[in-house]
Amino acid sequence: MCGVIGFVGDEASPEFFYNGLKRLEYRGYDSAGIAMLSHGQMYIERAEGKLSALEKKLVHLPLKTSLGMGHTRWATHGKPSEANAHPHKSGNIVILHNGIIENYKEIKSFLQENGYVFESETDTEVAAHLLHYEFHKNTILLSPLENMKRSIFALVSRIRGAFAFGIICTDIPDVLFAVKYGSPLVLGLSDTAHYMASGIAALVEHTRSILIMEDREIAYLTAKNKEIVTFEGVPVSRKPIHVSWAASMLEKNGYDHFMLKEIHEQPQAIAQTINGRIDKSTGEIDLQSYGIHHIPLKNINRIQLIACGTSYYAGILARYFLESHTKIPVEVELASEYRYRTCTVNEHTLCIAISQSGETIDTLQAIRYARTHGAHTLAVVNAPGSSIAHHCHDESLIYAGPEVGVASTKAFVAQVTSLIILGLGIAQTQNIMTSTQIAAVCEQLVHIPYLVEKTLSLSSSIEKMAAKLIHLKSVLFIGRGPQYPVALEGALKLKELSYIHAEAYAAGELKHGPIALIDDEMYTVCLAPRDSYYEKTMSNIEEIRARGGKIISIGTTGDHELKQLSDEFIEVEPCAEMILPFLTTVPLHLLAYWIALKKGHDVDQPRNLAKSVTVE
Ligand code: G6P
Repeated sequence: MCGVIGFVGDEASPEFFYNGLKRLEYRGYDSAGIAMLSHGQMYIERAEGKLSALEKKLVHLPLKTSLGMGHTRWATHGKPSEANAHPHKSGNIVILHNGIIENYKEIKSFLQENGYVFESETDTEVAAHLLHYEFHKNTILLSPLENMKRSIFALVSRIRGAFAFGIICTDIPDVLFAVKYGSPLVLGLSDTAHYMASGIAALVEHTRSILIMEDREIAYLTAKNKEIVTFEGVPVSRKPIHVSWAASMLEKNGYDHFMLKEIHEQPQAIAQTINGRIDKSTGEIDLQSYGIHHIPLKNINRIQLIACGTSYYAGILARYFLESHTKIPVEVELASEYRYRTCTVNEHTLCIAISQSGETIDTLQAIRYARTHGAHTLAVVNAPGSSIAHHCHDESLIYAGPEVGVASTKAFVAQVTSLIILGLGIAQTQNIMTSTQIAAVCEQLVHIPYLVEKTLSLSSSIEKMAAKLIHLKSVLFIGRGPQYPVALEGALKLKELSYIHAEAYAAGELKHGPIALIDDEMYTVCLAPRDSYYEKTMSNIEEIRARGGKIISIGTTGDHELKQLSDEFIEVEPCAEMILPFLTTVPLHLLAYWIALKKGHDVDQPRNLAKSVTVE
């Protein structure tokens, strides 16, 4: 977590750093800081709390600089406070950090023995002092630049963990140092400046020419030049990528919140993910355009979907369609647990990392582990140029566009769409489905954006409903078949945004324990559109009703029986079974949004969370 931005070039204002941090605030938002070098003097301003707290301090910074950095923090070591906010300073050296230095305690003792006094509780301050210690160790024959290069090598050889560092030394006023190991870091290139950042979102308004740094690399950046070397000092040459995200895609565009905007962008996200990859008239899936270039789909006899959070639920939902279309067994794995079992993959296994950000460290580690053990690996990601994509054999972008709201919404539906297309592609390659059968599924796929768009019109009625539900302490969600992962996603959204305890169960599991929770105060959100499982789910709803439980149901338009059983009834269009989970997801995202908003919460930045989780 944490967002870092750095600049070296003709001229940057405090607002440049502030606006860059705003684009990265999804990575952490408990404190922030900016360092700017001006006329040989280092100016640092830091503030506890959201970025807006730092805004008030920008007046204390110089009007412009040719070298500076900014940081927005998600606390790991040390509570959110100004003292723990980055950047950290040790004499002539200023450093900011995204990641965790695991052996910081032992290094701290060493530094304390050598007279260093610590002002924060962070692991990062250890890096600042260690670099200072190294820099001042033996400087006689080296220029400040060469000395700093040597000192950074010494630093990275001594610390363990994950780190993306930005480093400035007042003795070297024209160089920004960027160091990457385990945490994401990209460089932005232009004719007049070089940039570094934790994500491309911070850079696209300045340059779309992005160079993705790899682990164990150090960049020495000046306004006009860049040099990259490995931790072993070997020069690295890599071409930048061109990023298509426009700065305007990162604006709210008239919506009050990014989350609401992104919920309303679901039809587009689905349509763009489909676009150019299927031909509904011939039933042909274009696997090249999907991103399959190296993986031999013909030989795959087992699929593992590996992900965290909402992306994990997208995997559970996609499994229904992948299995039914490919007839291949599919397992869905929590990335954070994946490495703790014996890995049994082989050259016939396809492991798919599903990740909006492409940076989630658990997913990254899991997919690397699977690859090392012989699996073919595919990244289904939203952000271009991600670490997860870099470590997979193939990458397939979902084209949902930048997602800024911390709680993922449009990426969820786009991920499921993408995996359905992949399933059809596998079925095509292995002759499991005929082109006529594939065409029939494609016909359904292309209808989804339109039906999701119609479902979005429920927003105002859900807003009214939400006003009545803000007092709730706990809510159950139930669904059967593909509605079960939708229930999981709905419960996650409600708890992370509204801080109301919420749990989802497969409807059939209710009787095995959770039903004990039902009383006349407990609300259950029941997903019961007319699908193959409808009658069984209805029986479960009757069981809740019989025990006095309150029911919010999501069913098919005109379902009077369900409406009568329910305290609140939300209706979605009758449609093909594959489309239904897309439609029932929309009201759950809206419900979580409106309840959180009515409770006065920050829906785009819920407490304690971060969008890109780069710590294990
Ligand atoms: C965080 C976010 C979630 C997201 C999860 C996985 O917890 O708050 O919204 O689903 O990370 O992120 P990924 O980028 O890998 O999809």
